[in-house]
Amino acid sequence: MAKIIVEKSKPLIGEIIVSGAKNAVLPIMAATLLTEQTCTIEDVPDLKDVYVMNEVLRELGSEVVFNVADKTLTVDTVDIEKCEAPYELMTKMRASFLVMGPLLARKGIARVAFPGGCTIGARPIDLHLKGFERLGAKISIGHGYVEGKVEGRLKGANIYIDFPSVGATENIIMAASLAEGLTVIENAAQEPEIIDLANFLNKMGANISGAGTSTIRIKGVEKLHGTTHQVIPDRIESGTYMVAAAITKGNLLIKNVLSNHLRPMIAKLEEAGVKIIVDGDTMRVDATEGFQGVDLTTLPYPGFPTDMQAQFMAMMAITQGIHVVSETIFENRFMHVSELTRMGANIKIEGSRAIIQGVDKLEGAIVKATDLRAGAALILAGLIADGKTEILDVYHIDRGFVNIERKLQAVGANIYRVE
Ligand code: UD1
Repeated sequence: MAKIIVEKSKPLIGEIIVSGAKNAVLPIMAATLLTEQTCTIEDVPDLKDVYVMNEVLRELGSEVVFNVADKTLTVDTVDIEKCEAPYELMTKMRASFLVMGPLLARKGIARVAFPGGCTIGARPIDLHLKGFERLGAKISIGHGYVEGKVEGRLKGANIYIDFPSVGATENIIMAASLAEGLTVIENAAQEPEIIDLANFLNKMGANISGAGTSTIRIKGVEKLHGTTHQVIPDRIESGTYMVAAAITKGNLLIKNVLSNHLRPMIAKLEEAGVKIIVDGDTMRVDATEGFQGVDLTTLPYPGFPTDMQAQFMAMMAITQGIHVVSETIFENRFMHVSELTRMGANIKIEGSRAIIQGVDKLEGAIVKATDLRAGAALILAGLIADGKTEILDVYHIDRGFVNIERKLQAVGANIYRVE
């Protein structure tokens, strides 16, 4: 089993280039199922989750070619041979469930195993299913599978989503793109990845407006065609390297960023006293004068992202004073707390809040990456901990971060992988 070893490092100095966004490319890959023509996706990150989605698409009959050197992925789904996504692939990654909307729209039938993924809460799929039902699909559940059937075409509808779920919004947008008539999604998720998906679908001939706001209108079309699209940069990877600069009191130039997607992280780091200068698609993060503690609450976009909570907690763990981190998106996203505690952090969990009493130093220890963002937080903690930190279960980290140890090594981090 691979491990990542991190030793106490000097302040990180240099440049890091951010890869394409995992959470943008996965729904876009699912959306390629909506056409029998070829789609080309550019700036695709070389990540485990992308390979899982490749397998899911192939299982359904797509021809997928991933040119890793060019970061280009082409998908050709002349016909969908099989409308079933099996347990083995679904349990590897929750986002595999995003094929359900496209399958229902294109084939009128889908049988998909209940999804898996990170162990950060119950993560139901009820909002996706209610959306499909509103569009006219008949949904049944049994033997660990969800089955959907449509008589004729899906029908446009008004859909109010109880909670602005990212995945449910994406699945409903994809299904509604080929439905008959108008669909209006209210209380939709507003994440940048939703806008990227809508841009991709519009290039395929869809008619979607309002993506990035809480009301999205989709006028269904009869057919979609192939297209080429470059995915947006990964805002969580960008944010993680912003924290890497801060926690080590370093100075990093982060390239390939869309700073308006990073507003919550920029605001929090500025509140902590870190200097941030944005220049086009680059951002300098200068923490050479140190930082102070901040409190934070995770919220749907444009609030502070739950996917950055663990990384900021690592930073707060070694900041003087008491800091409160409230998690409102997932009910079980504090698994990194026990691992940070093994490294000497002083953190108490009270319901959905973590109370962090900053300590003077952390100590290297053997720890486990409990989910992909938690794994990143342990790397960050390892950079400033005395001695050696050994991170196990690094497959979680490989799901979401391209070459994290190589990117950090290049800016002076003492980090390496042992296979
Ligand atoms: C996506 C991101 C993930 C991020 C999360 C929240 C991808 C591939 N993953 O996950 O990195 O952490 O958004 O920003 O884009 N919920 C329900 N019923 C549903 C769907 C969701 O109750 O049918 C709940 C979930 O349990 C969770 C909350 O809604 O508590 C948010 O989940 P959601 O926004 O759907 O997250 P994902 O799309 O799974």
